[in-house]
Amino acid sequence: MSKTATIELDGKKYDFPVVVGTENEVAIEIKSLRGDTGGLITLDPGYKNTGSCKSAITFLNGEEGILRYRGYSIEELAEKASFLEVAYLLIFGELPTQDQLDKLYKDIKKESHVDEEMKKILDGFPKSAHPMGVLSSLTSALIAFNPSAVNVDSDEEMYNAIIKLLAKFPVLVAWTLRKKNGQPLDYGDSSLGYVDNILKMMFKKPHENYEVDPVVSSALNKLLILHADHEQNCSTSTVRIVGSSHAGLFASISAGISALWGPLHGGANQAVIEMLEGIKQDGGDTKKYMGKAKDKEDPFRLMGFGHRVYKNFDPRAKIIKKSADDVLNQLGVEDPVLDIAKGLEKEALEDSYFVDRKLYPNVDFYSGIIYRALGIPTEMFTVMFALGRLPGWIAQWREMRLEKEPIGRPRQVYTGENLRDFKDISKR
Ligand code: ACO
Repeated sequence: MSKTATIELDGKKYDFPVVVGTENEVAIEIKSLRGDTGGLITLDPGYKNTGSCKSAITFLNGEEGILRYRGYSIEELAEKASFLEVAYLLIFGELPTQDQLDKLYKDIKKESHVDEEMKKILDGFPKSAHPMGVLSSLTSALIAFNPSAVNVDSDEEMYNAIIKLLAKFPVLVAWTLRKKNGQPLDYGDSSLGYVDNILKMMFKKPHENYEVDPVVSSALNKLLILHADHEQNCSTSTVRIVGSSHAGLFASISAGISALWGPLHGGANQAVIEMLEGIKQDGGDTKKYMGKAKDKEDPFRLMGFGHRVYKNFDPRAKIIKKSADDVLNQLGVEDPVLDIAKGLEKEALEDSYFVDRKLYPNVDFYSGIIYRALGIPTEMFTVMFALGRLPGWIAQWREMRLEKEPIGRPRQVYTGENLRDFKDISKR
């Protein structure tokens, strides 16, 4: 028998259905709350207790440190899959057959040209512009050159919009880096796989051949998979809510990039390295910074620590920590900030402030150390995160459109002035 939950207010009782997910997550469905009660709403700043949708894409259990895409564990996918396979899985629901994967990549390659006029837009930015701002702007600018990707009323139109973005976004990422490095803007090499092509587009120097290093390629593949989706986080919720107004895919993703930029979200990977560098330059005294992080009068936070959902450990952080060791060893890179990071982690995990608040390293605590070893500049870290998250954002946007979700429009509890008379400026 289906369960109900009862709210009692002013002596009246109201019943609401209880929804149970496939992993037994339980939610009280309050769709009819306002109608039934004559205006009652729920109040939940930061949406800590609010489910915004039903979704069949990613399952996450923060208490047990579980993350699965479409039912497959993140550990297995990071070990065995290619990023493009994971993109297909997230967006279309199943792992692709070889034929399906080949077709996907063939379609992507056909769309990988970015209009030359876009280069003028990029040229307008100063070299000092933050790459996330540049990427968000360029993604939005793509709309002007691909207007057919805006209204996606048929399956075919939706598929084409998705392919265009999977194809053109890596070019924009590479151009953002090349502009920063003062290098000519280039297109890819369609004889290479999706990830190898990204590397070549980013790093090929004008007068040299570029050989993809398999260690670098495999590390990037893994990092992109680990970042590919994370259910209803800040940027994904942004993508869904912008898309819910039927703004097109590119506009929704551009908004998601802006949301990801913040240091409390994807920007944390840049903030972590800057913090570790700062600690190193300040003599490497990790205890001092632990003290700052615990001091409520001090705005300093241990970047890369804590997570809204993971309250035990972040499974991605475990994979990345091991990967950081492996990649640095294989590439023969010695990075002193890795030791500082390990020292900070050890101290935090033994400190009651962090233990009591269930604060553990998150995905971004070690990712920057790997990006750095791969030769990616610090300001590009969050761009790399966006590249990884792209398939997740697309999958969530597609699901939202296919489920015909209503426009996102939360309510509020008004706490301002009551009605008052207008005062002429001379009397204020
Ligand atoms: N350093 C020190 N104290 C912290 C930290 C931290 N990194 N994170 C949380 N706390 C403390 C808070 O001060 C608070 O303490 P209190 O209960 O005494 O007031 C308690 O832990 C709970 O923190 P909240 O901010 O309420 O937790 P919330 O779920 O809202 O925030 C967040 C999660 C934003 C990730 C937070 O932990 C944080 O700012 N971390 C650092 C930034 C970061 O690494 N972000 C990346 C997240 S992963 C991602 O987006 C990809």
